[in-house]
Amino acid sequence: MVQHKARAIAVANEKGGVGKTATVINLAAAFSQADQSVLVVDMDPQANATKGLGVALDDNALSVYDLIVDNGSPPAAGAVVPTAWDRLHLIPAHVDLSGAEVELVDAEGRENRLKEALAPLFDAYDFILLDTPPSLSLLTVNVFTCATEVLVPCQTHPYAYGALAELFDTIDAVREEINPDLAMCGIVPTIVDLRTRVAKVILGQLKGDARYRDLLFNTAIRSNATIAESVDAGKPVVFYRRSSYGAKDYKALAEEIMAMTGA
Ligand SMILES: Nc1ncnc2c1ncn2[C@@H]1O[C@H](COP(=O)(O)OP(=O)(O)OP(=O)(O)O)[C@@H](O)[C@H]1O
Ligand SMILES: [Mg+2]
Repeated sequence: MVQHKARAIAVANEKGGVGKTATVINLAAAFSQADQSVLVVDMDPQANATKGLGVALDDNALSVYDLIVDNGSPPAAGAVVPTAWDRLHLIPAHVDLSGAEVELVDAEGRENRLKEALAPLFDAYDFILLDTPPSLSLLTVNVFTCATEVLVPCQTHPYAYGALAELFDTIDAVREEINPDLAMCGIVPTIVDLRTRVAKVILGQLKGDARYRDLLFNTAIRSNATIAESVDAGKPVVFYRRSSYGAKDYKALAEEIMAMTGA
């Protein structure tokens, strides 16, 4: 069997609706098309990545909740489900994940639960992509503890640039206290409409700021209605309509990430 050592990429931004989930599912699909084996882990109780990959979870199926909450939890491999596409697997989320924070409040090593559960799977994939909820919760901390890298989608929206500083402070705190090896994968501008002034201003701010400049990908994800359509259809855009801007942009981003030497 081929041995892999997964790059585990957390896709995170505490702001809601900035394209985290769209980035997770479409990047995962683009990696899989490039012959990489990929596991998506849906750590958001909204379960948007699960739905966006066309997976309908039946109530008895294991989800990421079972891996992090149960003591003596089942092996993570038992929660992995295939998708309709080769080399693209998923550990789904279920709405019960929203209770995990409360249930784990007194649990020992509670921020390590996901890392411990997924450890045996790192040898089975090239990439593990972790979707996070739009808040700094215990779920996000579990993702940062388990990840080797963080990818930050930044919407070209008035408050997005200011919010990045907060996110970077959070990542610094995680490095200091929990995961010193957590690397920056990069910042990708999302939902970009270059005809608007605000998009140009925000891209200019990112390029002009020494904290972010070197982390910025060359690829920006343009605003593209086909992406929203494909999410609703439960198909990543690279499979839904390969000629779309969305498909092209996510493929270009995947190429850039694969070309990095790795964390
Ligand atoms: N490049 C894009 N162009 C147009 N629409 C997009 C694009 N990327 C995402 N969207 C749409 O914008 C909305 C928010 O995207 P998404 O769900 O990926 O954000 P999110 O950061 O995961 O949100 P949340 O914080 O709620 O988890 C969705 O309806 C999605 O389909
Ligand atoms: Mg989301």
